[in-house]
Amino acid sequence: MATVIIVGSQWGDEGKGKIVDIYTEYADEVVRFQGGNNAGHTLVVGNETTVMHIIPSGILHAGKRCLIGNGVVLDPQVFFQEAEMLKAKGYFQDDAQLVIDPAVNIIMPYHRAIDIAREKKAGCRKIGTTGRGIGPVYEDKVGRRGIRLGDLVHGQVFAAKLREVLPEKNFLLEKFLGEAPLEEASIYDEYMAYGESLRKYLGNTSRILNDGIASGHNVLFEGAQGTLLDIDHGTYPFVTSSSTVAGGACTGTGVGPCRIDAVVGIAKAYVTRVGEGPLPTELQDETGELLRREGHEYGATTGRPRRTGWLDMVALKKGVEINGLTGIALTKLDVLNQMASIRICTAYRCDGQLVDEFPPDVDMLTRCEPVWEEVPGWRCDISGTTCMEDLPRQARFFIDTVEKMSGCPVVLVSVGPRRDQTIQIVNPFGLRD
Ligand code: IMP
Repeated sequence: MATVIIVGSQWGDEGKGKIVDIYTEYADEVVRFQGGNNAGHTLVVGNETTVMHIIPSGILHAGKRCLIGNGVVLDPQVFFQEAEMLKAKGYFQDDAQLVIDPAVNIIMPYHRAIDIAREKKAGCRKIGTTGRGIGPVYEDKVGRRGIRLGDLVHGQVFAAKLREVLPEKNFLLEKFLGEAPLEEASIYDEYMAYGESLRKYLGNTSRILNDGIASGHNVLFEGAQGTLLDIDHGTYPFVTSSSTVAGGACTGTGVGPCRIDAVVGIAKAYVTRVGEGPLPTELQDETGELLRREGHEYGATTGRPRRTGWLDMVALKKGVEINGLTGIALTKLDVLNQMASIRICTAYRCDGQLVDEFPPDVDMLTRCEPVWEEVPGWRCDISGTTCMEDLPRQARFFIDTVEKMSGCPVVLVSVGPRRDQTIQIVNPFGLRD
């Protein structure tokens, strides 16, 4: 039996979808624990690419139980679109494959409207959100005025909550944000219908997971976004609104920390970021463009071009520490194929001082300049390599350097988007390949 948490160790988009898909093979249950459809997990099976935003990536494996834990926020409209897309592709043929916790908070139309309007009003001070209503729905959750899935399936409870909350939202939309108010009756009808259709997925995910663990199941916790977008530990305020770190897997599912065996942090061989906020190793030149082009660095959710930069070890070391990583899955190594030499940021220089700790505040981070170590590139195509021994010496040196600098073993190397473009070094479920 093993329980493994997967988290993004940088600013999201590290290639979690593919790794979750690979590890799902060993898992009995796969569970999402935070975030919503701001996530975009891209999976390539054979020649087919599937992008998932809310349903756990494990759904591509028939017979694996997928769960949406209490820490997630769910947009029913997006959920049903995604479910339909999956069913049309021949996946998710059995509704019993998915369970959604009744404590999941529902993304309502006013959450999306407020998210978009606030960003518009903020102008150049915007966060650069995905516009999916994530911040506003988590605000309501913490403010104890959220509408949960359990409410949607009880018409009277839902009606009463909506009646109470909507006037406040419309006041904000109209009077402060200058947007049109929303109409209660149409929201009620639309969401009551969603509630009816979602009823069949309802289940106590905490109980299912704890029972599964007790009976020897392997469980995979599928994180979304990344450590530096965490509401507490990220580059606040340029973060998402959930706990993206490993600790979030426990609160977001109701599984205790002592039940967790391994935490794998997904890290790209370089960095990217979408939205605003500091990115100390950012490249605004041809090399940055090359990384964007070779790595197809465009948002899976919004299509926005991602900002790109060299690997930042100060940031990654913070990811190792905060998540208690037991292993790193190093992804997109093949994107560096053409580089004659590769830079790694080992520390920052800030206000004349050498800094090797990720700064706690965003203003300081903005003033940080990277200190580089340069390692040789391999200048050949490694995308067909399936074992460490076949990697060029320089690529192995790069991996060794990441391990030494981070103090964390690299347990997997990804050299392309397909399942077979993967070098598994250690299987976190304890089953060696
Ligand atoms: P929100 O999560 O839509 O509120 O966006 C807040 C910040 O997190 C923005 O900078 C987004 O670009 C970023 N973000 C949210 N989800 C993801 C993701 O899945 N990958 C990368 N960045 C994300």
